[in-house]
Amino acid sequence: MVFYQVKDYEEMSRKAAALIAAQVVMKPDSVLGLATGGTPQGAYGQLVKWYRQGHLDFSQASSVNLDEYRGLSGEHPQSYRHFMEVHLFDHINMDRSRTFIPDGQEPDPGKACRDYDGIISKLGEIDLQILGIGANGHIGFNEPGERFEGKTHCVELAESTRKANARFFEDGEEVPKQAYTMGIGDIMKAGRVLLLASGAEKAEALKMSLYGPVTPGVPASILQFHPNLTVIADREACVEIRE
Ligand code: F6R
Repeated sequence: MVFYQVKDYEEMSRKAAALIAAQVVMKPDSVLGLATGGTPQGAYGQLVKWYRQGHLDFSQASSVNLDEYRGLSGEHPQSYRHFMEVHLFDHINMDRSRTFIPDGQEPDPGKACRDYDGIISKLGEIDLQILGIGANGHIGFNEPGERFEGKTHCVELAESTRKANARFFEDGEEVPKQAYTMGIGDIMKAGRVLLLASGAEKAEALKMSLYGPVTPGVPASILQFHPNLTVIADREACVEIRE
């Protein structure tokens, strides 16, 4: 594991963007595994800036996102497809037909998951998988449970996850109860994993994931077994580790 402790969210975002940019520069047809949420948003903003300045070209790259809420269309403002359009895809030259996100509108979970697994295997190896971490240790929407799920599956979101994500939804609007998520096996097959963490609310999960026992009760703990893991975490997210 390569661990960078940085000052704050801004520094985490710049470093993460530099790593993603290097990936695309060195291998223009990279498959990028992308996450949504507050954590990677700053890194995407930085990539957009560098793209506009002419430093980056995404025309040969592909992307595959970790997860999507079940029941939301790609046009819904809180869907992860919409998040990706607004924060990244609308501003760079990645071919839309090579950006993949589970189909939240597919009512049949079996089909939604099979279809997404088909897409993942067709793409081949994910070169760089970007991950945020939930305060409960989830990665993607692989919530704490009894076992590690290998492939794309439909999950019941933990109450704590729905509460944490309620900040993105309009007042009174329900956070969906289920989501489709890439499995732990898919994440572990990535050539390189970049785990990002910012803020004190992630400190306990980060410590347990990197230095606690490997257990499906803390899904991110499986990353201890990844041969090419890079962690970029800000000071607040590292308080438990320093102590
Ligand atoms: C999002 C995802 C989640 C988030 C995690 C942290 O695609 O897979 O695992 O990375 O819930 O969310 P934020 O970054 O909003 O704190």
